[in-house]
Amino acid sequence: MTTHPISTEPSEPAQLRAGRPDDTAAIVALIEQENHRPADPGQISRRLAGLPSVIAEQNGCVVAFLYCRRFSPDMVELSNMVVASTARRGGLGARMVSMIEPELRALGYRAAIFVNCRLHLGATDERVAASRAFWLHQGYQIVFSTHGSAVFTKFLDRADVGTLE
Ligand SMILES: CC(C)(COP(=O)(O)OP(=O)(O)OC[C@H]1O[C@@H](n2cnc3c(N)ncnc32)[C@H](O)[C@@H]1OP(=O)(O)O)[C@@H](O)C(=O)NCCC(=O)NCCS
Repeated sequence: MTTHPISTEPSEPAQLRAGRPDDTAAIVALIEQENHRPADPGQISRRLAGLPSVIAEQNGCVVAFLYCRRFSPDMVELSNMVVASTARRGGLGARMVSMIEPELRALGYRAAIFVNCRLHLGATDERVAASRAFWLHQGYQIVFSTHGSAVFTKFLDRADVGTLE
């Protein structure tokens, strides 16, 4: 499976499906292509095996992924997400988040959390601003930040909103 949607054929809409450990190589390639930094295949494979994930395919290529890891018994970390630059701003990222959140809620996770950091190798101010705008648009809130990092969270069950202790 390749990650580049290099094709002269008209693009078909991206199809979403659950991720599997054998998607690891395509995910590593997409991270290297888009984030310009190496990825850990063993870690990715374990996360794909452990919790729900989403893969988007277009014309037979993986163009986006989202996978998770357990953060606490009732909180899940959205561990990594990338949409290929050729497939951005078409609603694909939002569709992927909408697909995974109910699956995580069904597993008993009450909230999602992750950190967005501008200090990672390959990060740029423009990319960080885009991803922060994206997550705010998905209903996530920044609960803590430093100069480099912002911690985002969201209750996965609307009934929990406003019940912070
Ligand atoms: C962040 C990312 C996943 C967004 O994916 P996407 O498919 O382009 O997002 P969508 O098209 O679903 O965007 C949904 C909304 O988010 C906001 N948004 C997304 N990209 C944005 C940008 N570059 N600037 C401002 N707002 C943006 C908009 O409100 C957008 O709705 P609109 O297009 O109707 O205005 C993608 O840009 C990406 O992979 N970036 C690099 C990796 C990364 O930063 N991952 C997240 C790590 S925490």
